[in-house]
Amino acid sequence: MEKIKDNQGSPSGINRKQFLRTAGSTALFAFLGIHLTGCDVTSSSSSDDREPENGNDEDSAVSVDGNIVTLNLDADSLSALRSAGGWMLLSQASVIAVNIDGTLIRAFTDVCPHASCRDGWGYSNERLVCSCHNSVFENDGTFVSGPAGRDLPEFSVERKGNVVTITK
Ligand code: FES
Repeated sequence: MEKIKDNQGSPSGINRKQFLRTAGSTALFAFLGIHLTGCDVTSSSSSDDREPENGNDEDSAVSVDGNIVTLNLDADSLSALRSAGGWMLLSQASVIAVNIDGTLIRAFTDVCPHASCRDGWGYSNERLVCSCHNSVFENDGTFVSGPAGRDLPEFSVERKGNVVTITK
């Protein structure tokens, strides 16, 4: 655009070739601009889907305020907790959450009563297992077997729709 003004002084002084080249570029950029805007929206949406555990999505899904942990089960990152048998180790809250029957959510400390392992948890056949030394607990925290020798402490849980409030 500036080149045209500098060389010709006015738009009427533009020769046909320059006009077509300029108009073509403008149209091309306008076209690309529209698509780039579309890409921005798409990539923004995609990046929300790919947020890491500590990203924005997780921040809105799990909030910790002192001894209160709030889970928003509408968040994609917590989708495992929406159905029966789903469970998650929420390390940032030091909580294991388990969906017992599709509705009831139970929450436990992630600190194993045996030797305080926090990251060896698994859940299957309605039992929690600490793989550090294979202590096993029922899905209500009751001790079953292994060196822990006592129950896994359970936290109080209140659920309103898809918002779960855990009091530690
Ligand atoms: S720390 Fe869990 S079984 Fe040993």
